[in-house]
Amino acid sequence: MSQKPIYGFDFGTSNSAISIIQDGKAKSLDINQYGQDKTIMPTLLYFNEKETFFGSEAESKHREVNDPKARYIRAIKSAASIAYQDGTNIHGEYRTFVDLISTFISHVKEKSDSIVGEDVKDIVIGRPVKFSDNKEDDQLAQTRVYEAAEKAGFENIHFTYEPIGATFNATESLNSGDNILTFDFGGGTLDFHLLKYNGSEIQTINTHGIPIGGTDITKYILAHKVLSHFGQGVEYTDKWRDWRSGTKSVPNSLPSSFLDFDTQRDSKYYQRLYDSIKEVQWEAKEGPLPQLEALKTCLEERYFFDIFDEAEAAKIALSSNDLTKIRFKKKNVDISESISRADFDDMLSYRVEKKITKGLEQLFEDSEVQAEDINVILRIGGSSEIPFFSNQLSQLFPASKIIRSDIFGGVSKGLARIGHDNISQYLI
Ligand SMILES: Nc1ncnc2c1ncn2[C@@H]1O[C@H](COP(=O)(O)OP(=O)(O)OP(=O)(O)O)[C@@H](O)[C@H]1O
Ligand SMILES: [Mg+2]
Repeated sequence: MSQKPIYGFDFGTSNSAISIIQDGKAKSLDINQYGQDKTIMPTLLYFNEKETFFGSEAESKHREVNDPKARYIRAIKSAASIAYQDGTNIHGEYRTFVDLISTFISHVKEKSDSIVGEDVKDIVIGRPVKFSDNKEDDQLAQTRVYEAAEKAGFENIHFTYEPIGATFNATESLNSGDNILTFDFGGGTLDFHLLKYNGSEIQTINTHGIPIGGTDITKYILAHKVLSHFGQGVEYTDKWRDWRSGTKSVPNSLPSSFLDFDTQRDSKYYQRLYDSIKEVQWEAKEGPLPQLEALKTCLEERYFFDIFDEAEAAKIALSSNDLTKIRFKKKNVDISESISRADFDDMLSYRVEKKITKGLEQLFEDSEVQAEDINVILRIGGSSEIPFFSNQLSQLFPASKIIRSDIFGGVSKGLARIGHDNISQYLI
């Protein structure tokens, strides 16, 4: 009798993937038909008034169709742990985060089921070591994802830590007795997992998660290179206070709107921002400040995402080039900024390096395995491709072998294997 099929699902902040064991082999399914790599499904939703689009199709709709009423939802996984809010308005209808995540998972299920030819009911879903630093919010996130999977039609739903999935998929490169550190740096979180491999079993020694991800790194680039085009650091004279030299700075909240979390951007948000811009422009003795006029255009034309994408593309380019440019020119928005690998390294050394060393210290605290015992480092997740981090790892662990795993597919393949072999010790 053949075994019931079971999916391994890597629900990522930026990218998702789903795998299944077929003929004894883990295989990622081609669910993203418009993608360059059909097995990598960007975790994106795009709602116009009639239809919903997913993955690369959502991305291209957003890029190509100028529909100010459309909602483009990114990083919905990050919304799962937001406790003070449980949803957002989409075309006048309140949609809970569970509902939105379920819409995404339903789509993934439908595509996968049609490939497999069965209504698959069993799934192992990856979860980060920490959805959130706060324990209750962390549990809330897992519950929401569980409910979303249930609503999407799954009946047997389990979770496994993402790095366990990745390690399970890399056992061919491991030797018995290896002490392994997985360095999983994705879009939303950086997870460390300390593991021991005894030739057949993988044992968790310790874990530590840091809630920073690739999205934050893109935001650092925006903060350093782009926000000055939209009022950051710009001073003006308050015409109503001129008599006592009323120089003021543009409130940081205006340019920083580029860094706000996407799903909270409903029409009220845009209106408030628009009003605040108008207020400064009205006060400015110099006349309308060009940087805020540019910000206004971004609001009207919804350029935020496109500019974010430019910064993201520059970040990715810096993983293989020494120099790149962030360019964006539309209407009165004109950005042309060079960024070098050295600039980027400085930024990361200032913003992230210490967090990583501190996180590692915590990982090894009270642990039977110490830093010098690590002989394999498994790096996974898109952000682990950034040379600054692989160099940092080589310096911190000079005696370890660093393995670049299956960066985007490894987690889901490992999860499928764990589900298929029903290795209950890893199932949460
Ligand atoms: N070559 C690259 N260099 C630098 N960053 C990259 C590269 N490729 C992808 N990224 C970044 O990696 C992130 C996505 O990685 P990945 O798909 O592993 O994350 P995820 O699984 O969606 O997130 P998480 O596991 O945190 O929920 C994005 O922030 C993306 O910009
Ligand atoms: Mg991931």
